Amino acid sequence: MQSMSKINRSERSITFGGSTENAMQSDPRSRAWVEVDSKAIENNSRVLKNFIGDDCLLMAVVKADGYGHGAETVAKSALIGGADSLGVATLEEGIQLRNAGLSCQILILGNLINAEELYSSFCWDLIPTISGIREAIICNNIAENNQKKFVIHLKVDTGMTRLGCDCNEVKELVSKIDCLENISLKGIYSHLAIADKDLENNTKQNFTQIQLTRFEKVLKDLGERNNKLLCRHLANSAGTLSDSRLHFDMVRVGLSLYGYFPVDDFESDLRLNPALKVKARVTLVREVEKGTGVGYGHFFKTQRKSKLAVVAIGYADGVSRNLSGKISALIDGFLVPQVGAIAMDQMVFDITDKPDIKTGQVLTLLGTDGEVCISPQNWCDLSGSIPWEVLCSFRNRLPRVVT
Ligand SMILES: Cc1ncc(COP(=O)(O)O)c(C=O)c1O
Repeated sequence: MQSMSKINRSERSITFGGSTENAMQSDPRSRAWVEVDSKAIENNSRVLKNFIGDDCLLMAVVKADGYGHGAETVAKSALIGGADSLGVATLEEGIQLRNAGLSCQILILGNLINAEELYSSFCWDLIPTISGIREAIICNNIAENNQKKFVIHLKVDTGMTRLGCDCNEVKELVSKIDCLENISLKGIYSHLAIADKDLENNTKQNFTQIQLTRFEKVLKDLGERNNKLLCRHLANSAGTLSDSRLHFDMVRVGLSLYGYFPVDDFESDLRLNPALKVKARVTLVREVEKGTGVGYGHFFKTQRKSKLAVVAIGYADGVSRNLSGKISALIDGFLVPQVGAIAMDQMVFDITDKPDIKTGQVLTLLGTDGEVCISPQNWCDLSGSIPWEVLCSFRNRLPRVVT
C-alpha cells in the first residue's frame, strides 16, 4: 500500500463535498450511456412526412423500445414531427405508450393469438394485425360482448413468408370478415422482404416489384371493397425511399426515422440525422511494457510500450464480443483503437497515439464526434450484423439520456 508520505499535494486535495442525498442519486452519465437526440427524431419525422407528401400517412415504427432509443421519447418526437400513427410489435409495447399518454392510432405488427391478449388490445384501443379467420372470430366475439366495433388491419403475405394470409385467399377472407358484424376492417397491408437489397442493387426487375404486383393484384381483386374503406400500406424505410408506387395510403418507417438510410452510401437529398450515440467513460489509464497481454485470453499483446485506457462498457451493455479488437472510439474527433477481448463490463483502448486522455473522459463508441461519425453500419461491416440489430442491442443497463 502507498504510504501517505508518498502521496503528493494535488492527490491529497481530491475531496468530495456532496451530501448523502447526492450519493443516493446515481448520475446516468457516470459510467456508460446511450444519448438520444429527440430533436433529430422530430426532424427526421418531418423530413419523411414532407417526402411522402400530403396524400400519404406516416407511421413511426417504435417497436423494440423505439429501436433501442426509448419508445416513449421516439413516439412523442415523431408525432411532433408529423407522424400520424405508431407501430409496435407487442401488446405490452402498445400499453406502455398508452400509459405514457399517447392517444394516436397504434397498430400492433405482431400476431396476438389468444382471447386475453386480443381483449387487452381492444380495451387499450390498440389495433391488432390479423392473418386469418381464427383471430378475426375471437375479435368479433370480444366486440359483441362489449358493444363496440373492433378495428383491425389484415396482413397479406406477398413474399416475406412470415405473417399474413396467402395472397390468393384474401378475397374470400375479406368477405368472411365482412360477415362478422362487430369487426371494422380498416386496413390491409403487406411487408417487403428485401427492399433494402433491391435498393442497393438498383435493378428494375426485382423481388420488391414482384411483391408490389402481388399487392396490387390483391387490391384489384377486392374490387369495390378496396379503395375507399381500407388504409393500404406496404413500404418500410427502404420501400419508402425507393419508389413512390410503394407508398399507397401509409408508409411504416423505422430505420430512417432514427436517422439512417437502409443502404450504405445511399444517395439522397433527404437530411436525416442519426439520433443515437453510445458513450462511456475512461475508468483507468495505465502504461504497460511492450509484449503485455491485454484482457481475457490475451488475444492482444502490445507491440510497443503502450498507454491503455480502460473503459466502462462491455458486452453486457450490448457491444457484441464479436467486435473485439475491430472497433475504434472517438475522442475530440480522434479515433482510438479497441484492443483485446471485449469483456462483460469493460474494454480497453490503445491510447498510445493520444496520450493526453485522462480518467473520467468520455469516449464515443457510436455516433458523431466532431467531423467523424461511427455508424451502426460500420459495426455491421466488422461483425456481419445489420443496423437494426445493432440499434436494438443496447441493454437497459445503459441509461437513455435524452438531449
Ligand atoms: C411490419 C413492419 N413494418 C415496418 C417496419 C419498419 O422497417 P424499417 O426499420 O426497415 O423501416 C418493420 C420493421 O421491422 C416491420 O416489421
